[in-house]
Amino acid sequence: MSTAMIISDKFGEVEGRVVTQYTLSNEGGMQVKIIDYGATITSIIIKDPQGKDKHVACGFDSMDGYLSDAYRNNAPYFGCTVGRYASRIKDGLFSIGDQDYKLAVNNGSNHLHGGIVGFDKMIWQAEIINKGELPTLHMKLKSEHLDEGYPGQVEVSVRFQLSNENELSIKYEGTSDRETPLSLTNHTYFNLSGFESTIHDHEVKIDATRVLDPDETNVPVGPIKSVVGTLEDLSQGQLLKDCFEELETGFEHYFLFDHPIGALTQVAEIRDTQSDSILEILTTEPGALFYTGYFTSDELRRETGQRYGKYRGMCFETSRYPNGPNIPGSPGSLTGPDKPFSSQTVFRFSTASAT
Ligand code: BGC
Repeated sequence: MSTAMIISDKFGEVEGRVVTQYTLSNEGGMQVKIIDYGATITSIIIKDPQGKDKHVACGFDSMDGYLSDAYRNNAPYFGCTVGRYASRIKDGLFSIGDQDYKLAVNNGSNHLHGGIVGFDKMIWQAEIINKGELPTLHMKLKSEHLDEGYPGQVEVSVRFQLSNENELSIKYEGTSDRETPLSLTNHTYFNLSGFESTIHDHEVKIDATRVLDPDETNVPVGPIKSVVGTLEDLSQGQLLKDCFEELETGFEHYFLFDHPIGALTQVAEIRDTQSDSILEILTTEPGALFYTGYFTSDELRRETGQRYGKYRGMCFETSRYPNGPNIPGSPGSLTGPDKPFSSQTVFRFSTASAT
């Protein structure tokens, strides 16, 4: 019987540097592939009840996919580790004490997902650690003071593990030599139908009844708003197709969980009602940006054929509050010498009919 393991091979090259792929596999045959470019998950392959492989994450099998004009112009951030700060910071502006900072702006007037060259476009330093019960893929990155306009020399690390219970655990850590905004997340788009169809038949339940209200440029600026009893209320579970009838561009909402911050707690369950594949999500984070992929280009597809595009994959971006440095009272938006960053998110896959 095989056990959980990690192997590495060459994935491609970017600007003359080798990009390495790491394949995490477990005894049930589930696989997660991660490259050191952007600490990016390039594929998640689960087994269907017949034992056949099913791709459930958007990504490509070669660097050409990530470097193509079609991908770069659309900038969907498939599977990458987002940093320094996930989602938008309004006008790229914030202040710490009486010091104002101006970040690189790359999304209309706003700063998005770490700027022009965010953590998603850097090559991380990777190491396989074969200690303990499960092998770990440990990725590290250093970002210099004033990178994309952010203060502080920051060091971050991400640890990926795949358990024999089909749980992908992602642990983030970060330090900075001065106070700075830091919010790390993973930007994988999931489609539990194996991209046989759109995500309309997915039922989504999120243990949250409040969202951060966005402004006209889609930056959550607050106040915190209750969604109880509306189509945006997923706390009892809803089929996405019912919500999409009324929500013109689907979900792009930051939900605030009802659970206490810092404890690893289950916060969401997503089920493809056609295949009965289930994804449960646990996190220590205060909330997640639930984004249903309205803006993904229909031109994008994996080399082996799976089609991506509008409503063909959804992200569950567990993170600190988007635009947190500008929201009074936003928990944990700043990391500093006496406030290291740490978080964990677990994606657990299963099939209802098999349990
Ligand atoms: C944002 C979207 C954006 C997408 C890809 C999501 O996190 O909410 O507005 O289009 O990332 O960049």
